[in-house]
Amino acid sequence: MRVIRCCAVLVLGTALGAMAAVGGGCIAGATHAGVYEHAAVAADHEIASKAGAEILKAGGNAVDAAVATSFALSVVRPYSCGIGGGGFMVIHLQDDPRHGTMQTAINYREVAPAAVGTDYFEGQDDPLASVRGGKAAGVPGTVAGLLYALEKYGTMDRQAVLAPAIRAAERGFKADTHYAETASELIEDFEANPAWKERFAFVWERYLLGGEVARGDRIRVPEQARALRLIALSGAPGFYDGEVGEAILRALRGDGGDQTIEDLRGYTVREIKPLRFGFCGYEIVGMPPPSSGGVAMGQILGLLERWNFRGYRDEPFGWRPAGFGPGTHLLAESFKHAFADRARWLGDSDFVEVPVDRLLDEKYLDALADRIDMRTTHGPEHYGSAGLERSVSFAPPEIDGGTSHFCVVDDRGSAVSCTETINFEFGSLVAVPEFGFCLNDEMDDFTTVRDKANAFGLRQSELNLPTPGKRPLSSMSPTIALDEDGRVYALAGASGGPRIITGTTQVLVSLLLGNGLRENDAESALWALRVHHQWMPNQLRLPYPQLTLDAEDGRVASLSHLRALGHELRHIRNVGNVQAIVRGEDGWEAASDPNKGGRPAGY
Ligand code: DON
Repeated sequence: MRVIRCCAVLVLGTALGAMAAVGGGCIAGATHAGVYEHAAVAADHEIASKAGAEILKAGGNAVDAAVATSFALSVVRPYSCGIGGGGFMVIHLQDDPRHGTMQTAINYREVAPAAVGTDYFEGQDDPLASVRGGKAAGVPGTVAGLLYALEKYGTMDRQAVLAPAIRAAERGFKADTHYAETASELIEDFEANPAWKERFAFVWERYLLGGEVARGDRIRVPEQARALRLIALSGAPGFYDGEVGEAILRALRGDGGDQTIEDLRGYTVREIKPLRFGFCGYEIVGMPPPSSGGVAMGQILGLLERWNFRGYRDEPFGWRPAGFGPGTHLLAESFKHAFADRARWLGDSDFVEVPVDRLLDEKYLDALADRIDMRTTHGPEHYGSAGLERSVSFAPPEIDGGTSHFCVVDDRGSAVSCTETINFEFGSLVAVPEFGFCLNDEMDDFTTVRDKANAFGLRQSELNLPTPGKRPLSSMSPTIALDEDGRVYALAGASGGPRIITGTTQVLVSLLLGNGLRENDAESALWALRVHHQWMPNQLRLPYPQLTLDAEDGRVASLSHLRALGHELRHIRNVGNVQAIVRGEDGWEAASDPNKGGRPAGY
């Protein structure tokens, strides 16, 4: 490993530690960034970053490394993503021998099984049916998606890219701080629902160690190595059919699920054109529906550009890491427009008409920008072209464990920005015991019950009702920014439900415009405090303790400015866990969010 500026990065990280500690959950004194001359991977677990870097060093391209990273994450972040889930991958190939220079997007989001129609969840007695248990799982897409990407855009064979993940599954790994914290929250849920200990016995015994898991404990689930070997040997049928497919169905149907072998065998990957829009001289390449991330970021960045955000950022009390002011208001108002339109207009465009062009139309964005008032904030009815403003919502839960984002660049300048999810921590909690992985609870990302918000407080329309084969709307926002020569300049993405969109946007803005801390560097972009607003509930969330936000004594001067504009201020622990890479003078600056404790790798 050749880390050119590691020491400088470490010093900055420590200096900024106190500031970011306001957000809580960070790991002081550890370095989560590095600069790499040729190629880099930033994942939210070091073993996964190293798996990708190993493939890059062995001559693999960014897609090979991404596939290796993802399979490794399936082992070492079993509560975040994995072969029981789904994801989105945005790819930029630079001077590729087979494909030249191009961008593409791979949609391997889970799909609703054939049995799941629009009223499926409205008819369930169990209020948790869409989040925990056999009915909550969509047909998993990760294995099909990764192998599709590898076969079409990679250069290595399955055995090579799966080797690091198989090794990790056989050896096991140590529970880190994020693992232990995530587990302890889930253990409380198990204690509140004692029947779960038997019902979800594999998660309870093997991943939570019977409720005793602590930082430093070794987690060993070699069963997953068996599944990975079968995938290496037989490709996608090694997962969707045969022993593994049968075991998936046994687990789901044994817990009340309705998936069938036809659902599994019928899973198809969709390769689609990525979404593109300009921002301050860069071309942003993002994920189209069923992701809401690309459209929302296109709107937010379009509004910020119209309001010359850079100017607001540089004002006193502007959007600075240690203070909030007019720039923060501008961000919040842009977020409110984008989340209002997300709620009203977005769904799976293979099934419903999603007006992407209209939502990103220049004149429409001009009109939304004109409705931003720097003297006040408004009620929900003011934003987007909504129509759901009277519906219920609630504060987004602070869980951030059920998703993982990673970025990869190779020595040619090809890149992959990839976000994967199983939704909640350990997904549906239904594990496939013979093969040691958890199945997702992605069904909750649909509008499962009309007029009700989903588990993240997100209100969604009937365009997002479940029907067989449809993919639920997602906030996952894997993003790549190209410079004026069409070469990769920066990559970012996050986990954290709706905070994926707000977190990724703020980090990307920092990378492209600087943030007042240091110009355009990956680590400071991640350390800078972030804010969150998702339109409903009408609350602006900041990483300060609620006591400070309630204080009328001007303890943090810029907060009174936000209150005077009419914002209801609420505490948030962190705004997504973001991974990012940016091109610097000495090479690729890669950073993993200190809140999740990942570390990049490269050479
Ligand atoms: O696709 C989505 O939008 C959600 N399934 C993401 C959930 C999430 O990020 C949970 N926490 N990390």
